[in-house]
Amino acid sequence: MRKPTCFQLLGWTVMLLISCNAGQQTPGPSPNHDAGMMQKVKDLMAKMTIEEKVGQMTQVTIDMVMQDQGNQNIDEAKLRTAVLDKKVGSILNVKWYGYDLAKWHEIISRIQDVAVGETPHKIPILYGIDAIHGANYILGGTLFPHNIGMAATRNDELVKAAAKITAAETRASGIRWNFDPVLDVGRQPLWPRFEETFGEDTYLTGQMGSAVIQAYEEDGLEEITAVASCMKHYLGYSVPLSGKDRTPAYIPETQLREIFLPPFEKAVKAGASTIMINSGEVNGVPVHASHFLLTDVLRGELGFEGLAVSDWEDVIRLHTRHKIAATPKEAVMLAVNAGIDMSMVPLDYSFYDLLLELVKEGKVSEKRIDEAVARILLLKFRLGLFDNPYPEEAAKSLFGRPEYSRTALNAALESVTLLKNEGAILPLTGNQKILVAGPGANNKASLHGSWSFSWQGQDESLYPADTKTIVQALTERLGAQNVVCRAVPDYRAAVNFDPALLKRDATSADLIVLCLGEEAYAESPGIISDLNLDEHQTDLAKAAIQTGKPVILVLTEGRPRVISPIEPGIKAILLAYRPASRGADAIADLLTGKANPSGVLPFSYPRQTGDLLTYDHKFTETVREPGAGEFDNGGYDPQWPFGFGLSYTEFRFSGLKLDKSVLKAGQTLEVSVTVTNTGSLPGKAAVDLYTHDLFASVTPSERKLRKYAKVELAPGESKTINFTLSPEDLSFINEKQQRIVEPGEFEVLIGDQKAGFTYE
Ligand code: BGC
Repeated sequence: MRKPTCFQLLGWTVMLLISCNAGQQTPGPSPNHDAGMMQKVKDLMAKMTIEEKVGQMTQVTIDMVMQDQGNQNIDEAKLRTAVLDKKVGSILNVKWYGYDLAKWHEIISRIQDVAVGETPHKIPILYGIDAIHGANYILGGTLFPHNIGMAATRNDELVKAAAKITAAETRASGIRWNFDPVLDVGRQPLWPRFEETFGEDTYLTGQMGSAVIQAYEEDGLEEITAVASCMKHYLGYSVPLSGKDRTPAYIPETQLREIFLPPFEKAVKAGASTIMINSGEVNGVPVHASHFLLTDVLRGELGFEGLAVSDWEDVIRLHTRHKIAATPKEAVMLAVNAGIDMSMVPLDYSFYDLLLELVKEGKVSEKRIDEAVARILLLKFRLGLFDNPYPEEAAKSLFGRPEYSRTALNAALESVTLLKNEGAILPLTGNQKILVAGPGANNKASLHGSWSFSWQGQDESLYPADTKTIVQALTERLGAQNVVCRAVPDYRAAVNFDPALLKRDATSADLIVLCLGEEAYAESPGIISDLNLDEHQTDLAKAAIQTGKPVILVLTEGRPRVISPIEPGIKAILLAYRPASRGADAIADLLTGKANPSGVLPFSYPRQTGDLLTYDHKFTETVREPGAGEFDNGGYDPQWPFGFGLSYTEFRFSGLKLDKSVLKAGQTLEVSVTVTNTGSLPGKAAVDLYTHDLFASVTPSERKLRKYAKVELAPGESKTINFTLSPEDLSFINEKQQRIVEPGEFEVLIGDQKAGFTYE
């Protein structure tokens, strides 16, 4: 078929406006059910004072009700100040580290005793927590790979299964609100929260984020298997220009709508009950003060009806950090008027005091207060807190079930990504003697990363005794006589980085398993200024290579650290991300061939720190002009591309078919492709479907992920995979910030297969 020229395309006037904005169909309970609850909310609000209403909008951290002494007990006087004097609606977090179930029950029960026993209207407290890769603040909770690893599985069912367990274990503690999922798209690998993201692709983020929300909420919030989700951090948090956490992002509106907004649009449709706001600023405007993003877009366009909570201290930071408010009071006014319903204050009562003054002065309307409070109270009703605010007996039996560990193992197994396997050195044969070295070899924290029993996840003593390190898991499988290791649990210990020691120990080994990457960190403490693997680890790797023994690199890291200087000397590379509680078992099973790797990269692994192109870059991003008038293609040249991942078996794609060559508005395009396991081992293949818009009025990407699947195949087996594309899958944001589809030529790309069609 003749390819249209750019001019023809621009000349065509037919453009289909896609109504992706209609997010009005918030699922969950039936309208009648919600209408009944809304009536209860109205009745309750009719009795409430303005102080009680402003209190509902106030969220404090648990420190505000705990004793200061080094214990973890409630301070009765502080609790009474919070709940009775300041009438707070919500409490969050842990003090220093997670508690066991019994301790959580004691804390939540005591808080609710005061809330429903001693307040005039018996309004329960809404307790919120960050359980972002499992119930990470409950001792004994099951921890799953961080999102960056879950995205590598390309398996929504697995994502959902893990999230169901997270919901059940969180609810079992008495907590019904989870600040998850993270829907920030990870396109700035320096950013220290990269591991919390589903990687660089907007579609993958939206799909997996929605799967998590469904898992949390689909049973109905009153059920013991559910928690209220909190999509975060709206909007544009993940691409600070400097790569440093909570620093400015500059994102043109077309990109905001093309890349960063769609996961939130999908999440609203998936039924997310709450949303948390980005602490940073976008294009010079702190999001906490952006009426445009918080009200016009979120409410007006996306149709979100749930509760919007600020992030940590971010209301007052409009004054202290962003400097857009001359006083703390002005900060409160700007945030609430922009659309914040609840402030995570969280370490004082300034928000409560200042908001009361503002309402009395008429600077924040009672209407705005009522709108916010209605959302908060409706959520409390929907969660069943008015019926029973205490930890639910039946929920306890859903904590720590033996089968959860299997799901954690499966998730780790499907996430870990084999990036290199020269000469098929892996899997290990079982009769080699192995030196296991490096800071990650005997450390649990680097397997888990952030939000793991403590905020930073670094405290080794908090990990369960039965959680294994990589060397422990390898020793179990290979026998102590075959494993040499001097690495110690303390990640930073000098002995873990000693090249001379490594060389000495390597003399008696057949090969070296070198465990490098990153120690655990969360948020700003994880800021780095250089994406290169640090020089101590690089030196260790060079020493390992110099021994002449084959080196197998296992990377536990939350973001891709550049390893191009050492990569050529390494025989095999396994990227484990943050595989969590069964991560070491998964790594050992994959190294020894008990399991076959199937993870594929959810980001482009950079080769050079100055070349951070994403896979969906534009053509012009690769064009170079070496001399005047000379042009060549500088290329997309990552160390490994998005979607890359090896297996111990081989897969072949064939027979890509489209059911029509011309797609019209209102129709769907059925796509099928056959995947064959041509190797000799069973394995799972990730199947990514991309489309390529040949010409468009806004410069098109080279390709864009539109669908994905995971398929399991025995040796010699073939399966046909079917996908359905709709015109909406071909849409993009135009210059006027509208989502449209333009007529023209498209290609579908799966593996090495390609087929074209026309959209009319
Ligand atoms: C983080 C949020 C988190 C909140 C509460 C903030 O620092 O940005 O993701 O939910 O703390 O712990």
